[in-house]
Amino acid sequence: MIQIEENINLKPFNTFGIAVNARYFSKVSTAEELLELTQTPEFKNEKHLILGGGSNILFKSDFDGLIIKTELKGIEVIDESDEVVIIKVQSGELWHDLVLHCVNRQWGGIENLSLIPGTAGASPIQNIGAYGVELKDVLKEVEGIDLTTGEKLTFTNSECAFGYRDSIFKHQLKEKIFISSITLSLTKKNHLFNTSYGAIADTLKAMNVHEVSIQSISDAVIQIRKNKLPDPSQLGNAGSFFKNPVISFTHYQSLQKTFSTIPGYHSVNQEVKVPAGWLIEQCGWKGKRINHVGVHAHQALVIVNYDNATGEEIFDLAQQIISSVKQKFYITLTPEVNII
Ligand code: FAD
Ligand code: EPU
Repeated sequence: MIQIEENINLKPFNTFGIAVNARYFSKVSTAEELLELTQTPEFKNEKHLILGGGSNILFKSDFDGLIIKTELKGIEVIDESDEVVIIKVQSGELWHDLVLHCVNRQWGGIENLSLIPGTAGASPIQNIGAYGVELKDVLKEVEGIDLTTGEKLTFTNSECAFGYRDSIFKHQLKEKIFISSITLSLTKKNHLFNTSYGAIADTLKAMNVHEVSIQSISDAVIQIRKNKLPDPSQLGNAGSFFKNPVISFTHYQSLQKTFSTIPGYHSVNQEVKVPAGWLIEQCGWKGKRINHVGVHAHQALVIVNYDNATGEEIFDLAQQIISSVKQKFYITLTPEVNII
């Protein structure tokens, strides 16, 4: 029978390390357990939140409802040819363990996404991305359970409406679907290596790699990330706190007149993506600490919990960053982190 615990401290369950309590907390290991949970009074009468690894969440206060922690496990090959392998991954598998599983078998496609914390089930929510690759490049389909009807649903890649740190699961289907598994299509030969992101090429060179491979890209990405991003087990954080803003080309050109070195990456529709880390650094926040919270010294886009901070303290710092960036650049930063 499904277990529901009461008054659970969520500190070990979120990478910011915020000590808030959940009124109810339940771990689900199978789709059947989830369906059983949806029939309980705790599910029916309370608000609920699905939790993976808690690496993209900020709890501002106690959660007065039911936390559903996904623990579904399993990686299964469901189809294979000489060229490709199709794998189905249960939502509670850790993303980085999955990457290593694939790198060890020489399956190509997700090596650039090495060392991203959290679970496979959360990966489609914001279409995780790093170093020139996004989940959408390899995802075939998502399986989920409608939390209202208990119906099993399948979403194809295009039905997920993926965008930059975006998908249908953040909009029309927000909090409506429990993602139970993802299916990925990976290469067994003719790999499409992506080393275009500057730091990868430089790191491979520094590592003396002459022939690029799935393993060497993964190793390079791990090295880059370890140098820049704080390890949540040492210093609480949730990766990039904000998304990189996309502004109009006209706005970008007018900013260039005052800030000649402003970086920008051209995207479609006459728009430019500006690195939020640069904007935040220009406002003087990089490495700054206010009591228990601060802005990471190596990456201004990362807010850190130095020492038992509350969610409110992190949120307040984020608000101060938003206002100073708005004042200086007329750009409103949007959080990437889910604020609860
Ligand atoms: P959680 O934080 O537990 O949940 C995130 C959201 O997904 C919540 O809204 C939750 O309700 C929902 N959710 C979780 N699981 C399910 C499910 N099974 N069904 C339905 N909804 C669900 N992200 C990147 O994209 N690229 C990076 O390079 C990157 N680097 C990071 C580095 C660090 C050090 C950290 C701490 C975070 C980083 N992140 C990065 C952010 C984070 O790792 C990803 O967003 C990750 O996918 C979150 O997974 P999670 O299991 O921890 O999700
Ligand atoms: N920059 C600065 N100062 C800083 C940080 C960055 O000036 O303190 C500028 C530099 O110009 C640098 C540029 O920003 O060249 C880009 O920096 P970086 O390569 O570190 O990437 P990012 O844009 O800050 C994004 C993702 C990361 C992902 C990396 C690598 C977002 C919001 N963040 O960061 O994802 O790992 O690229 O692809 O898109 C996450 O989502 O949690 C995350 C860590």
